[in-house]
Amino acid sequence: CIDIAKLPKETGAFTYDPGFTATASCKSAITYIDGDAGVLLYRGYPIEQLAEKSSFLEVAYLLMNGELPTSDQFAAFEHEVTHHTMMHEAFRTFLYGFRHDAHPMAMLTGMLGSLASFYHNDLDLEDPEERRLSAIRLIAKVPTIAAACYRYSIGWPIRYPRNNLEYTTRFLHMMKEVPSEPLELNPVAAKAMDLLFILHADHEQNASTSTVRLVGSTGANPYVSVAAGVAALWGPAHGGANEAVLKMLAEIGKPENVGAAVAKAKDKESGFRLMGFGHRVYKNYDPRAALVRKMTHDVLGQLGVNDPLLEVAMRLEEAALKDEYFVQRKLYPNVDFYSGLIYKALGIPVEMFTVMFAIARTAGWVSHWLEQQNDPENKIGRPRQIYTGSANRDYVGIDKR
Ligand code: ACO
Repeated sequence: CIDIAKLPKETGAFTYDPGFTATASCKSAITYIDGDAGVLLYRGYPIEQLAEKSSFLEVAYLLMNGELPTSDQFAAFEHEVTHHTMMHEAFRTFLYGFRHDAHPMAMLTGMLGSLASFYHNDLDLEDPEERRLSAIRLIAKVPTIAAACYRYSIGWPIRYPRNNLEYTTRFLHMMKEVPSEPLELNPVAAKAMDLLFILHADHEQNASTSTVRLVGSTGANPYVSVAAGVAALWGPAHGGANEAVLKMLAEIGKPENVGAAVAKAKDKESGFRLMGFGHRVYKNYDPRAALVRKMTHDVLGQLGVNDPLLEVAMRLEEAALKDEYFVQRKLYPNVDFYSGLIYKALGIPVEMFTVMFAIARTAGWVSHWLEQQNDPENKIGRPRQIYTGSANRDYVGIDKR
């Protein structure tokens, strides 16, 4: 047990806050959430307006720079991002070292860490221009790496970025096989993907962003900081939920099985939770979920996809929203409840769902990293603990134990 009286005076209040439910780790001007009112703002702009009127790359600019770009600023930003999409050829060596069936998230984590070895030696973190350039490189290269990881995992040759395509379409082109009707050139698909990227671009101090900041607080370079963020994102309680939702819906299989799934999720002994339900901050409907829900109907309709899992998802949402257990605990669908159905309709394989999230969240991660590096109050993140181990005792020789 900690002896409060022995804490240094400058410690101030010593709090025990597992999961950091009530602790602000930093000041940030990037994203605002009002969890009770279901409000999400990027740099002051409502997510609904950005979803309707903006593009992912414009949102990335906004998150990084604080203001929407003029057309000249946007053209310069797009040009810069486009011209940093290529990877050093030596990256293939890293890629080809992975098991042939490795999960793309495992590869993405490793590949991003290895980026540091290409840009580390001459990286001067004191120079704001070098910091900005690192952020651009990450936004530009993450889709290239993500697509390469996927194609390697299914035994296809890597496809180079085609720089006459815009950001989201370029990624689709790099990732996908060439279908008979090229999906990557289908405007419905590109628009839907871009919209999901906007919704996933930032979400203040979530687990992965806090991880990026914690690593960044030590002075480590941005590439490994973001690689750590990717690792944190992978967990099913965070970004891995979109993959888990689709697997859960497939397991439920039919609308008639929804009641049993809800009952199982209420039974603590079962260890089963409704994936895509609940959020640490939103205790009202997640505003992103409302947008994705509508979009799922639009996209499936426009693409002529009739997915029986959509019916399962709708029945599940309906049943949970009427159930006392979920109502009392304020458990509503989150952004990832419906996003998997859209990705599936776009022909994105399930193991790529969290990778898609990572591509979008890179814009948020680098913006937080930049903000932190510019913050004069930035200090190494170093939580304390409540010690529950043994009291002071004497060492006992091995022959006397
Ligand atoms: N299904 C069933 N019960 C749930 C669920 C769920 N999805 N989520 C929370 N609960 C219950 C808990 O068992 C707990 O019940 P209790 O009060 O009787 O003990 C109560 O609701 C509160 O849950 P906590 O785990 O304490 O809430 P926390 O804020 O720590 O967790 C989280 C939030 C991780 C999102 C949680 O709701 C969850 O595991 N959801 C499923 C995974 C998921 O969808 N994650 C994606 C989050 S969004 C994102 O990262 C983009």
